[in-house]
Amino acid sequence: MADDRLKETARLIMENKASEQAALIQQIEELKLRRKAVILAHNYQIDEVQEIADFVGDSFELSRKAAGTDSEVIIFCGVHFMAESAAILSPDKIVVLPERLAGCPLADTITVERLERKKAEHPSVPVVCYINSSAAVKAASDICCTSANAAKVVEAVDHDVVLFVPDRNLAYWVQQQTSKKIIPWQGACVTHHRVTPEEVQRAREKHPDAAVAVHPECRPETAELADFVGSTSAILKFCRETSHEKVIIGTEMGILHRLKKENPGREFFILSPKLVCPNMKYTNLKKVARALETLEPRITVPEETRAAALKALERMLAVH
Ligand code: 13P
Repeated sequence: MADDRLKETARLIMENKASEQAALIQQIEELKLRRKAVILAHNYQIDEVQEIADFVGDSFELSRKAAGTDSEVIIFCGVHFMAESAAILSPDKIVVLPERLAGCPLADTITVERLERKKAEHPSVPVVCYINSSAAVKAASDICCTSANAAKVVEAVDHDVVLFVPDRNLAYWVQQQTSKKIIPWQGACVTHHRVTPEEVQRAREKHPDAAVAVHPECRPETAELADFVGSTSAILKFCRETSHEKVIIGTEMGILHRLKKENPGREFFILSPKLVCPNMKYTNLKKVARALETLEPRITVPEETRAAALKALERMLAVH
């Protein structure tokens, strides 16, 4: 009897939650039209946020979308540097990051002052700056890249040596694909960097017939054991095209939502339970609705910084 009551209570709670969520989704849809807004979400966002977004993608795809959209407001469901990139590319639009505290510890490993000191040690060496960096650091760099185009960008730079900031693991991965000399900044993404090669070995023992796909922000010893290394969009493509029915995923676990949706016939396993980026999880439907209602927290970039950072981003977008 008590068991039945508990079950009924649980059912009612779920029903309430579902109707609360449906009401929020409707509110978001109405506000979006009223604000002439577009909602962009990174592949690491929580499932519900991915579901209400107009576009879900990797850093490179999102920067292209931000540059190309004709809406008046961009609600950026991601982290601070991504919203800043949207503000750099679309100065006439209102860019809102639903959670002000959604930052990137990797981007925080470098400041303009520290970059300028490094540049002084290597005069005339161009700076290739990973998109996971502040607008100010982009402004002090020659060209940006994302993990989807890093090797192409380094190849396109007209110099045999480049300073690559701020991710040393991505720098190492690019170094494997170019004869140019890469001087890496010593930053890393805490979420990817803590995945160990032993975890790859254990996952392979558990799922011997699965392929392993990891992000290049993983440390080299881990990435070397994978079958595939690539950006989030490259991992999605690999999983659509591989002959393996099972894939072990070595990037932030938010990507599992799209992977399962796009590949109903395949099985996915997360390489490590540590693959959670807390900053990417700060955004939820309530905050998206509030962002649309208040148009806050707004992300802006001072004009001088914006103009210089834009050059670095435009040089990246021009590389094919
Ligand atoms: P992608 O560009 O591959 O989506 O990666 C972004 C990121 O922040 C990885 O941690």
